[in-house]
Amino acid sequence: LSYDGKELELPVSTGSMDEKSIDVSKLRGATGLITMDPGYKNTGSCESKITFLDGEEGKLLYRGYPIEQIADQSNFEEVMYLLIKGELPTQEQLDGFVADIRKNTEVAEEIVTMLNAFPQGSHPMAIISSLTSALSVFNADKINVATEEEMYEAAVTLLGQFPVIAAWSQRKIKGLPLTKSDNSLSYVENFYQMLFNDGSEGYKADPTIVDAFDKLLILHADHEQNCSASTVRLVGSSHAGIFASIAAGISALWGPLHGGANQAVLEMLEAIQNDGGDVAKYIGKAKDKEDPFRLMGFGHRVYKNFDPRARIIKVAADNVLSTLGIEDPILDIARGLEQACLEDDYFKARKLYPNVDFYSGIIYKALQIPTEMFTVMFAVGRLPGWIAQWMEMRQTNQPIGRPRQLYTGAATRDYVEM
Ligand code: MLT
Repeated sequence: LSYDGKELELPVSTGSMDEKSIDVSKLRGATGLITMDPGYKNTGSCESKITFLDGEEGKLLYRGYPIEQIADQSNFEEVMYLLIKGELPTQEQLDGFVADIRKNTEVAEEIVTMLNAFPQGSHPMAIISSLTSALSVFNADKINVATEEEMYEAAVTLLGQFPVIAAWSQRKIKGLPLTKSDNSLSYVENFYQMLFNDGSEGYKADPTIVDAFDKLLILHADHEQNCSASTVRLVGSSHAGIFASIAAGISALWGPLHGGANQAVLEMLEAIQNDGGDVAKYIGKAKDKEDPFRLMGFGHRVYKNFDPRARIIKVAADNVLSTLGIEDPILDIARGLEQACLEDDYFKARKLYPNVDFYSGIIYKALQIPTEMFTVMFAVGRLPGWIAQWMEMRQTNQPIGRPRQLYTGAATRDYVEM
C-alpha cells in the first residue's frame, strides 16, 4: 500500500481494506492513512493545514496554536486573519485587514428589498443563506477568482457584508428597524451593536458582554472537516464562487445535528421547565436503559473527552450570567443539569459532558437573543473558518469533488412490465 508516493505498513488483519479489518486506533496520528475512501463513511476527504482536532486528547489547534491560548490572548479579528492567512498578524497587517473588511460593509439596497419580502416568522437561517447566495448577484466580479488577490478580495467582501445581513435577520424577526454598520468599532462590537442598538442616545454595549461574545465567535471559528466545512469545500470545488459555497455551508449548519444543536438545547430546557423543572427526573430518564431521554448539548461525536471549547465557554457563560445578574428558571435548570452530569458517575463513565452548544445556548438566552438566532451566531463565528477552507481548497487546485459511492442496489436485471 502506498500513500503520497510513500510505502506504508498498515495493521491490516486480512487482505481487504474495509473498516472492519483495520485497527483504526493504531492509525491515530498517521496523517493520510485514513484517505482510502474519500467521501465514504468516516474516512478522510482532504488534506488541510488549518485546524487540528484530537478527539481522544480533547485537543484543538488553529494553525498549530492551542485554542486555550488563542481564546485567552487573541481577539476575533486576529483569529480571522490567522485562519485565512495562516499566521498571526503584525499590528500593521491586522490594521490593513480590518480596513479591507470595513470597505465592504455597505450592503446593496436590493438586499434590503429582498429582506423585506421575507414574511414575519421566517427562520433567520433561511434569510441569511438566501441573502448570502444573493450576494453573488451584487458582487458578480468576485465569483470567478483565480489569483490570491482575487480570492482575498472576495473574502473581505463577504466578511464585511455577512454580519450586517446576520444582524438584520434578527432585526427582521424582532420587527425592529434595520441598523447600520459603525466602522469605528471592532468587528465584534459592531456586530453586537447592529443586533442590539436600541437607538438611544449614547448607546454603548457592555464591554464584558462584548468580550464574552468575542470568545464565543473565536471558539466557533473552525472545527476541521465537519458537515458545513466539507460542504463549503465540495460546492466550492465546482468553482461556484465564494457566496454560493458559503450559502451552502450555512444550509448545512442549519440542521439540529450541527449548528442547530444549541437551539435544540434551549428547546429541551424549556420542555423540562414546562414539565415542572425537575432536573433529577430528567437525569433519571437519561439513564433509562430501555428508552433513554436524549440530553441535548451533552457529549460530542468526535471528542471522547471534554470538548476543549466547552471548558473555555463555561467561564464566559459564568461571567455573562454574573454581569447581567439575571434570574431565569431555564438557566437554573441548565446549571442543575450541568452540575448533575459533571458529578454523576454514570455520565462521567460515558464522557457525557456538556459541550460547546450547551453553554453557547445559555449565553445567547441570557443575552435575550431569540432561539432561532442561535445558529446565526454560530454562522458568524464559523465564517472565517469556512472562508479559510474554501481558499485552501482553491489554492491547492483541488479537483471537483466527487465522493466515491459504494453501490448496494440491485444487480443488472431485465425489465419486466408491471
Ligand atoms: C462544529 O464545531 O462544527 C461541531 O462541533 C460539529 C463537528 O465538528 O462535527
